[in-house]
Amino acid sequence: RKKVTLPTLQAMHKRKEPITMITAHDFPSSHVADQAGMEMILVGDSLAMVALGMEDTSEVMLDEMILHCKSVARGSKSSFTVGDLPMGSYEVSPEQALLSAIRMTKEGRVHAIKLEGGAEMAPAISKITTAGISVLAHIGLTPQRQNALGGFRVQGKSTAGAMKVLRDAVAVQEAGAFAVVLEAIPADVATLVTNKLRIPTIGIGAGNGCSGQVLVQVDMSGNYPPGRFLPKFVKKYGDVWGEATRAIEAYKSEVKDRSYPAPEHTYPMREEDYEKFER
Ligand code: KIV
Ligand code: NA
Repeated sequence: RKKVTLPTLQAMHKRKEPITMITAHDFPSSHVADQAGMEMILVGDSLAMVALGMEDTSEVMLDEMILHCKSVARGSKSSFTVGDLPMGSYEVSPEQALLSAIRMTKEGRVHAIKLEGGAEMAPAISKITTAGISVLAHIGLTPQRQNALGGFRVQGKSTAGAMKVLRDAVAVQEAGAFAVVLEAIPADVATLVTNKLRIPTIGIGAGNGCSGQVLVQVDMSGNYPPGRFLPKFVKKYGDVWGEATRAIEAYKSEVKDRSYPAPEHTYPMREEDYEKFER
């Protein structure tokens, strides 16, 4: 497969071919996504929960994100990789945002960065893109602001809310973002926003009128314990957790009844050598 670059994504957008994106948090989750043909891989700060066991994304630090970006970058040969700037690493000033973006691309080895926020982040987006680092914007439901938003709530449901989503989308486009993630907004609003923009929209919980889609890999592959809450927009395409559980339980039971390791898993020795050893 040829390397996916920004021009590749722009060409796909032009011919209205949906762009596929998935999260990865380490070498194997990146490798499998790359091999399965994902055009884009996001090192989302959702790794705080799915890879580090934290309560929410606000806990993860830039250094930790960079470590995970490095391992994802090593696992991907062809996908276009994007690293999420974590809360606290870009909101203070455009200068802070640029310094963090430089660290994430120079040390983390990803092709672009993502940050949350609309019109208010335009100066930061402009600063970063002017320095030659590509920015994926993220508007609608922005999980880093979950406390200020009053939880994980659908955005852009009212007329005023939809107007804000559109204003934010245009603002990040004009600031130089190469694409924008639209999270948890009504499908009709996402379609209208997509049609108004020159840059692609990547939807999550935003319907099929977007230019592409992104999902968290552990969610879509079913790599989570039974009973975990999942947002309405997630579709479970696999049962990775169930498969791992079955494998580990089978291993345990075979160790307990000594059927594992079987002779074929064992290194033999010539009988005469063993006899000498035994004596
Ligand atoms: O952190 C993340 O995984 C994300 C995507 C869900 C867009 O930001
Ligand atoms: Na994120």
